[in-house]
Amino acid sequence: MASTDRSLILAIDQGTSATKALLVDRSGAVVGSASAPLGASHPRPGWVEQDPIEVWDSVRAAVRSFDPDDAARVVAVGLSTQRESLVLWDRTTGEPLGPLLGWQDRRTADRCAELLAEGAGPLVADVSGLPLDPMFSALKAQWLLDTYDPGRGRDLCLGTIDSWLLSRFSGGREHVTEIGNASRTQLLDVRRGAWDDRLLELFGVPAAVLGEVTPSDGPFPAVRGLDPVPDGVPVLAVLGDSHAALFAHAGWRPGVVKATYGTGSSVMAVLGGPADAAGGLCLTVGWQHGGAAPTLALEGNIRSSGRTLTWLADLFGVSTTELLDSAGPSAEGVALVPAFGGLGAPWWDADAVATVSGLTLGTGRPALARAAIESVAFQVEDVVAAVEAVGGPIETLLADGGLSRSATVMQAQADLSGRAVRRADDADLSALGAAQLAGVGAGLWSVADLTDRARATTAFAPATTPEQRRDGRAGWHAAIARSRTQPLADTPVPVSRRHP
Ligand SMILES: Nc1ncnc2c1ncn2[C@@H]1O[C@H](COP(=O)(O)OP(=O)(O)OP(=O)(O)O)[C@@H](O)[C@H]1O
Ligand SMILES: [Mg+2]
Repeated sequence: MASTDRSLILAIDQGTSATKALLVDRSGAVVGSASAPLGASHPRPGWVEQDPIEVWDSVRAAVRSFDPDDAARVVAVGLSTQRESLVLWDRTTGEPLGPLLGWQDRRTADRCAELLAEGAGPLVADVSGLPLDPMFSALKAQWLLDTYDPGRGRDLCLGTIDSWLLSRFSGGREHVTEIGNASRTQLLDVRRGAWDDRLLELFGVPAAVLGEVTPSDGPFPAVRGLDPVPDGVPVLAVLGDSHAALFAHAGWRPGVVKATYGTGSSVMAVLGGPADAAGGLCLTVGWQHGGAAPTLALEGNIRSSGRTLTWLADLFGVSTTELLDSAGPSAEGVALVPAFGGLGAPWWDADAVATVSGLTLGTGRPALARAAIESVAFQVEDVVAAVEAVGGPIETLLADGGLSRSATVMQAQADLSGRAVRRADDADLSALGAAQLAGVGAGLWSVADLTDRARATTAFAPATTPEQRRDGRAGWHAAIARSRTQPLADTPVPVSRRHP
């Protein structure tokens, strides 16, 4: 066993704002980490693009900083990726056509409204498990094809980021898509785990442009061009970033609920019984491995959480850390609803507008920073309450992601939710989850070993009264109502057992 004792897993987390990479040893310890930033462009209001080649280059840049001796010990690669974002490329040359359309992109909002008016919403929600919304890939697929192949005659490939990176590994020869990522395209029948002809027809996407739906443990093309990692190291796990974070929280146990605080946020849980996409939540394939059936998860997505803080920090010309440090003890009646491009779960209101309300002449940075922090916590609590309404009481919320590093944000979450919050101390759970599944595939450990492997966490206990929490949420929901063009009564407020 001496040789496998030195084995390392390379985990790559291709996120919206950066690609992160970790080296994980056999004990599960992170022995190396690297990161490469990634920009986005906004050529028109609501448009969010990235360059597919820059995404690939950021993956290579993150890995390139590792020591060649360590890289030589890598026995398997795990990949986690931002989801829903979409790339179109030429099958013959492997080269992208047009930009990567980011998950935050809103250019398809009008087409989405048309489809909703035509009554397509129920079929889409029923089959895909997702509400018809521009965030998911299907409308982006239609836009890319309408723009670059209106006659649908070219030999093209469409893929989410996992699919795009795997194509690069294979030198453009293979076109596969991991099932969890595929379930976020809005083209997959979430229960059958297969592309759905009705959805393909609705969105005008020929089946031929889509990759082969593949379980989270492969088979995938091996890595290539990832210096200093040798070509041919197998990719043994691919997961959506949010799914990977849930996996790293040992979230295959029903009742474990996690929130990832990244650019946006995702609240996700595997539920015990048969789940349905009720209460503004999505039904998603969490993962599929070991020859078992796909594991379904319930999820609520928040478009803007960490991004709200970076936006406000940019506005004040300070760093995110400085902004967080400058937050006052109270928002002083200010409410910030970060509906940049509408609201996600549980509202799914594409027309909601971002608002700041309750300003006075005395309002300054401390109150606005606090309002931004509270917007993250209130949004997460709305989704957690919706999950609770479907799946039963949630005492503890597990937290991860870049913004979870802020103790101020974590304490605000505990205070506004009235729930214990347990934050993973590891830097990047999305990468870690991909490493864990890859290590299962490499025979370094089993899923049972992972259950026993307690990870360090920091606990945050609520220090508020039920009355304070009730008043706080009432104020937040009044602010939500102001940001929406539809009356609040049209969408039931998720009532948590803690906020009767
Ligand atoms: N020093 C810091 N302390 C706390 N939060 C920070 C710090 N630096 C950045 N952040 C927050 O972390 C967020 C990015 O988190 P993360 O790296 O997990 O996102 P991502 O993986 O790029 O995006 P996503 O997972 O949504 O695709 C930023 O938007 C910012 O608000
Ligand atoms: Mg991330």
